[in-house]
Amino acid sequence: MSISLEIKSGNLKEKIMKIDFRIEHIDPLGQGVFKSEETDPDSGEVKRTVTFIKKTLPGESGTAEIISSKKGVRFAKLIELKEASPERKVPECVHFNLCNGCDFQHTTYEKELEYKKLALTRHLFKFPEVPITVHGAARRLHYRNRIQLHYDKRKKLLGLLDEQQQILPVPNCLVIDPSIAFELRALYAENSWLQILVKEPPKGHIELYAKENDKREGHNVQRSINRHYANGGFTQVNFEMNEKLREWVKKKADQVIPPKAMVYDLFGGNGNLTAKFRNPTLVVDKYRTPPEANGHQKFYSCDLYDKSAIKSLIGLKNHGIPRPNWLIIDPPRSGLKNLNEFLAEFKPDGFIYIACQATSFARDTLSILKNYELQSIELFDLFPSTQHFETIGIFTRRKNNE
Ligand SMILES: C[S@@+](CC[C@H](N)C(=O)[O-])C[C@H]1O[C@@H](n2cnc3c(N)ncnc32)[C@H](O)[C@@H]1O
Repeated sequence: MSISLEIKSGNLKEKIMKIDFRIEHIDPLGQGVFKSEETDPDSGEVKRTVTFIKKTLPGESGTAEIISSKKGVRFAKLIELKEASPERKVPECVHFNLCNGCDFQHTTYEKELEYKKLALTRHLFKFPEVPITVHGAARRLHYRNRIQLHYDKRKKLLGLLDEQQQILPVPNCLVIDPSIAFELRALYAENSWLQILVKEPPKGHIELYAKENDKREGHNVQRSINRHYANGGFTQVNFEMNEKLREWVKKKADQVIPPKAMVYDLFGGNGNLTAKFRNPTLVVDKYRTPPEANGHQKFYSCDLYDKSAIKSLIGLKNHGIPRPNWLIIDPPRSGLKNLNEFLAEFKPDGFIYIACQATSFARDTLSILKNYELQSIELFDLFPSTQHFETIGIFTRRKNNE
């Protein structure tokens, strides 16, 4: 490996460090991994370094520029490819090379799914071997019903944050639903977004989101400015795949959960996942969104990360709500660190854990395998073209844990 230090003309302090690389494999975050050894010329000590380079593929070689470096771990930006992988393809989106939103458009969808499955296998290396079933999406682009854009009025910039936290304009983003794309283009046209933000602070964010079942261009697209993510109520970002997921969860639930068993749908949002269940269900979420009338579901507002959450769920029996026999758990990316406490208290016959971050899934469920058996693992690709996916595990209580 050769390392060259370049000094930009006119600015001696601004050093750019370039490296030559060869990618070994793709890591769980969709980044190419390059491992190298360097010998310190003074001490003779051999130092091992791992460099992560986005938008590369196994076997590829080329030159990259170091963005950050700490204790043998580097992050670098691809500058030039010397040898391209036969798996490489031209990305459809013009923003792909600079944009931080997508990670896999430079290869086929089949390969993307293969890398995601491999990533999940790595996350679950401490688990007993259970085959992973992959549920791919029919559409790799044009699916996202929500986009959060950052703005800087002084710099007249609106877009997504890139790796260096700079705003990258994305007027032609291809992962968003056509109705959002229509609104997005309107915002960029002659910088019309600046007029909308006249009374807003100099920096902030705008969110565009579409309502389900309305695919007409620009119709029913909502806008929220400087509010928290999904301020108008949480919805899964991919309607088509959400439908597939919902159907799958319902089918599995009908197979494993007895018809009269009480289900608690924790982090249930508007009751999306259990909407079609036959079981009596209590949907628990911190943010209360007005549910559509649905006979079998009751809604309870509770901060499930609060210390008193379990106690307040226990107290529901005084209001005629039975304790749960099964749990559906669909937390935010940070997961549910004290899942074991919920299981110790309620001793459900089983639970279905749906995780949008595989690391949280592994952390939360590994410690409970003594009492619960992992029946199956699914990978649902709700976020094609990006590094993200949903991991779903079905767990049933072991006989020795009565
Ligand atoms: C990944 S979403 C799942 C929502 C729902 N299951 C669905 O399929 O639409 C996570 C949910 O957790 C909720 N949430 C976030 N923090 C929470 C907390 N501290 N306590 C309870 N719910 C929370 C959000 O409002 C959101 O509805």
